Parts: sequence; structure tokens; C-alpha cells
Amino acid sequence: MLDNELNNIFCGDCLEILKELPPETIDLIITSPPYFQQREYGNAGIGNEKTVEEYIENLLKVFRQCVRITKKTGSIVFNLGDKYIDGNLLLVPYRFAIEVQREKQVKLINELTWVKINPTPKQDPKKLVSSKEPFFIFAKSNEYYFNKDAFLEYKDKYLKGNKKAAGNDIGKKYFELIEKSNLSIEEKARARKELSEVIMEAKKGKIESFRMKIRDMHALPYGGQAGGRLTQIENKGFTIIKIYGNSIRKDIIESTVETIKGNVHPAVYPEFVVQELIKLLTKENDIVLDPFLGSGTTAVVAKRLKRNYIGIEIHPEYIEYAKQRLVEIPSYTLELFI
Ligand SMILES: C[S@@+](CC[C@H](N)C(=O)[O-])C[C@H]1O[C@@H](n2cnc3c(N)ncnc32)[C@H](O)[C@@H]1O
Repeated sequence: MLDNELNNIFCGDCLEILKELPPETIDLIITSPPYFQQREYGNAGIGNEKTVEEYIENLLKVFRQCVRITKKTGSIVFNLGDKYIDGNLLLVPYRFAIEVQREKQVKLINELTWVKINPTPKQDPKKLVSSKEPFFIFAKSNEYYFNKDAFLEYKDKYLKGNKKAAGNDIGKKYFELIEKSNLSIEEKARARKELSEVIMEAKKGKIESFRMKIRDMHALPYGGQAGGRLTQIENKGFTIIKIYGNSIRKDIIESTVETIKGNVHPAVYPEFVVQELIKLLTKENDIVLDPFLGSGTTAVVAKRLKRNYIGIEIHPEYIEYAKQRLVEIPSYTLELFI
């Protein structure tokens, strides 16, 4: 059905080209549209609107087509940047996400924050340096594909490889504290039992480490940490805090701002972030589409991860560059690490 379109890049206005594609055929749309009034791509295309409302309306027209062509099990990821006008931060990404939600066609699954390790240090003495951007992950139904373990999985491997085997004395100090405490005999027995269990979890690498707080021996938790913990200390005399470390999948991803030698495009997004999202949201041979392909990052990563790609870009010179990148990248499964 999509045979001619697969692993191709189309030149033109994505709104018109998307309309030609059949419904419910794409597994993942991942893209970074032009930012509002950045004026990096001449007068053609989205981003040159006079008001932020017009810009968002134009983006929504594209988004609606994206929703139409995405499979029920698929997802749509939009990465948007913000803009100061007259020293006022417009919160453009969030305005867009709120409008999308108003239309009730998709669900916002996550707002993944890309933390820039090397942000552009703009020298405004009265502003902090902006160093993050959201990637909104929308799903079309509750049946969306989501391979949570594949997201940043190298951290787990790294953690396991580098984990100092939990020594025999792990938790020893807590056993001593339990004995010294004024917990009742029953409370002490329960504390020893739960402490032994959590030590086993740490030894098996299921958790990175843990802390224990015992009544009248440790400061009571307060603020956001209180709640259940306080109740546990009051009711059973202790609480155990498990530290999951890297094995917990957080909604942040750290990556450098991409600079590719010889890249003709002014605003490339990081291959690493795209890689992790493609692994999270698709399987091999799935179809990944980027309606604002730019220098081809989405297609390059999709090819590397053995997914099919479709790209759309309005400027032919970027397409030429993207094709060059695609020739240089063979289809193999090597992944980037940060
Ligand atoms: C932020 S850039 C994308 C960069 C890309 N993620 C990369 O890594 O190279 C947005 C791209 O959208 C293109 N564009 C703008 N309006 C368009 C439209 N209506 N249809 C297709 N492409 C458009 C611009 O030429 C620009 O290359």
C-alpha cells in the first residue's frame, strides 16, 4: 500500500503530501517543525507567521494529518522550541500541546525533556541559559506500542557491568541500629525480615541501593517525602526507601546539541534522542515518518535501526544533504551512546 513511499524523501509542503498518504499506515511520526519566527529557512514553509496563534493553527493542520495516517497502535512525537518576544517567554510548545489536547484525537503519554549538555550560552545578563526542549509523545489509542525496556537500555547494561557486587556487610549498620532501637520485639523482627529482603534485591541488582529510617533514630521525612513514609514509621516503626538508579525510566534524556561536520542545516536534532524514541515506540521493519525532515536525522536513525522511513522536506538542498547522509549510513544496528 505504501511500497513506493517507503525509504524515500519527498520534496514539497508536508501538509499537501501528507494528505496523499493512506490512513492508519504509519507506526511513528517523529519530527521537529520549524520554530516560531526563527526565520532560518527563508520565507517558505511554517514558522514565518506573524502571530503565535497563526503558527499553532498551521502546525495543527499538519498534526491532524499526522493523526489520520498514524496506526491505532502508533504514536506521534513533536519536538518544539520556545521563543522570547520582547523579553517574554511565549511557552510555544505548551500552547501547541494544549491545543492538541483540546481536539481530543490523541492522548499525551509523556513530555520527554531533552536536557542539553552543551546549550548555546546566549549572553543575556538577566536570563538563565535555556537548556531544555520538550518532545511531546502522543498516542492514538491505549494500544500504543511502548517498549519501555529499550529506552536508554544501555544504562542498565552499564550499571550491571559496573556494579560493585553488593558486599556481605551491606545493610549491616541497619541490623545494628534495629537492635539498638526502642522498637518492640515484633517490630524488630519485621524490620530484620524486610531489611533482609531488600538486601537480596540489592544483591541481585534489582535496585541500586536503599536507605532505612527507624523510629526515634532518624529524622522524620517531611514535605513531599512524608505521606506514606511517615505513616509507615508511625505504624510499623521503620520505612525502607529503595533507590532504583538507572533502571527507572525517567522522562528526561540528556544529550548534546548536535553539530555534524559539513551539515548545511541550521537546526539539527540529536540522533541520540531520536534513536531512543524510535527504540521506545517501534519495532524493526516498522514505518517512521518525519514531515519536516530537514537534514534527514530521523531517516538516518530509522535506517540504522532497521526501520523503514518516509521523509518530507520543502527545501531541495536539505534533501540532497539528507540523501548523502543516508548513503553513508549503512543499515546496521550500531547504537549511539552518550
Ligand atoms: C527544525 S527543521 C528540522 C530539522 C531536522 N529535525 C534535522 O535534524 O535536520 C524544520 C524543517 O522543516 C522544513 N519545513 C518548513 N516548512 C515545511 C513544510 N510546510 N513542509 C515541509 N517541510 C517544511 C524546513 O525547511 C526545515 O528544514
